Amino acid sequence: MTQDEQKRAAAVAAIQYIPVDCIVGVGTGSTANYFIDELAKIKHKIEGAVASSDATAQRLKEHGIEVHDLNNVIDIPVYVDGADEITENLHMIKGGGGALTREKIVAAVAQKFICITDQSKLVKILGNFPLPVEVIPMARSYVAREIVHLGGHPALRHDFITDNGNIILDVHGLQIINPVELEATLNQIAGVVTNGLFARRGADTLLLGTDNGIRIIS
Ligand code: A5P
Repeated sequence: MTQDEQKRAAAVAAIQYIPVDCIVGVGTGSTANYFIDELAKIKHKIEGAVASSDATAQRLKEHGIEVHDLNNVIDIPVYVDGADEITENLHMIKGGGGALTREKIVAAVAQKFICITDQSKLVKILGNFPLPVEVIPMARSYVAREIVHLGGHPALRHDFITDNGNIILDVHGLQIINPVELEATLNQIAGVVTNGLFARRGADTLLLGTDNGIRIIS
């Protein structure tokens, strides 16, 4: 199977985790887009969705799926999203598409996080993929200096502004042995909005598309 076929297979497998009549949390990225396409096929069975980005909201609407404001939603049984890297402990790096903050918010509300990826995303140690950190623009230089003190090499993501009007620093050169600790440490730097480590709230289930079909890690 190609990488895209693995992504699509993981997205198809996620559909069985969607309860009837619920509001679904929907992630961002190419794998999440495959999931939206599958969700559209059962749209008559759900109440709608909460989107983790403007791009996802637009795609959901194009498919005729109602998009709800998170502030009007109490219960999201399931959040489905991709990842840039994931370990067997279900800790992740996310934010390659820059939607990490809204992804983390919707994931926090959801009862279950179902991660859908192709097999290339499964790693032993997080950090080969540059860790995205969303930063308030005026804090860019300060946050970058603090990240250098932590051993990382931050690079400004050029020509990119998040849906929240902020910038992204992509942090290279980290070998993330303790993702829970690093997630908290980065969040304590003034000016950091969110970082792309999803460790304190990792995934509950990974549906991994492989050459041999779907591998489920819970
Ligand atoms: C978006 O900001 C990201 O967190 C994505 O979920 C992540 O980058 C995975 O994207 P793909 O499914 O396109 O690989």
